[in-house]
Amino acid sequence: MSKKNVIVTGITSGIGTAIALDLAKRNFKINLVARTEESGNKIKKMINENTENNDINVYKCDLSLQKEIHEFVKEFKEHNTGLDILINNAAIIPKKLTITSEGNEMQFAVNYIAPYLLSRLLLDLLKNSSPSRIVNTSSTAHTGGNLNINDFQKLNEKYNLRGWGRYLDTKLQLTMDTVELAKELEGTGVTCNAVHPGFVNTNLGRYFTPKFFKPFNKLMGMFILSPQGGADPIIKAACSEKYDNINGKYFHRFKQKEASKKVFDNNVSSKLMEYTKSVTKI
Ligand SMILES: NC(=O)c1ccc[n+]([C@@H]2O[C@H](COP(=O)([O-])OP(=O)(O)OC[C@H]3O[C@@H](n4cnc5c(N)ncnc54)[C@H](OP(=O)(O)O)[C@@H]3O)[C@@H](O)[C@H]2O)c1
Repeated sequence: MSKKNVIVTGITSGIGTAIALDLAKRNFKINLVARTEESGNKIKKMINENTENNDINVYKCDLSLQKEIHEFVKEFKEHNTGLDILINNAAIIPKKLTITSEGNEMQFAVNYIAPYLLSRLLLDLLKNSSPSRIVNTSSTAHTGGNLNINDFQKLNEKYNLRGWGRYLDTKLQLTMDTVELAKELEGTGVTCNAVHPGFVNTNLGRYFTPKFFKPFNKLMGMFILSPQGGADPIIKAACSEKYDNINGKYFHRFKQKEASKKVFDNNVSSKLMEYTKSVTKI
């Protein structure tokens, strides 16, 4: 049997590093997607030092830019004809409104558009390897999202709570897309699910946490999940037989749970899909 071929994003820190190391120990072929070649190679070196697995590949891709996502997928397809698991894990919370060079709000681009695009552009390879899986790292934070159907990126609204407000929105958008994509995937052998990893000690708050709060972060870190603890439910959704044929569902860690009612608002959802198609042009 050939090795499982896996793509993981957001591998340079926190939950993503733990996922990549864990899957490398299972002897999967691991494709690390990192914002810079240097940061990706650092993780590859760490994996090489801690496992016997030599099938670790680094792809440079700034996920805030669609141009780089297209280039990454093109390069990946030059080396691979199939893909068993895609884990869309990267996310960011800048404290100030940041617009990418392509004109999109940064969180919208990284936390929502990147997984949307990667899942669609890699679908042919996922189908070639079916049964195969897409796992989106969502968050219980999606329940607090509040979308504006006339301005999904909220470019004309205040950037509130040091970016936390937009984070809630992008996790809601990602969870909505999980459900929408799952409908399209019915019968293909490819599944797509969203997982909340728990409250995990990572670098996610590095930009938006106020300076005065940083000393408390260390203390808090002792009481919340380790990166491996956050990785475990995502790895299970990606690998366990128990998730065979489960499609379009939301997991609060290991437990399948009904996502927020907002996720199933068909009017908002169809407008979001229409808008996303116009932004991604696919
Ligand atoms: N921590 C929690 O309590 C928690 C709770 C619920 C959900 N989550 C979710 O878990 C996932 C992993 O987050 P984490 O907590 O492990 O945070 P983290 O330690 O900050 O890791 C985030 C990862 O995303 C990458 N990333 C950000 N922007 C990128 C870009 N433009 N291009 C490429 N990579 C980029 C980062 O790379 P760089 O090093 O290059 O910045 C980093 O590897 C996220 O989806 C997050 O929303 C976390």
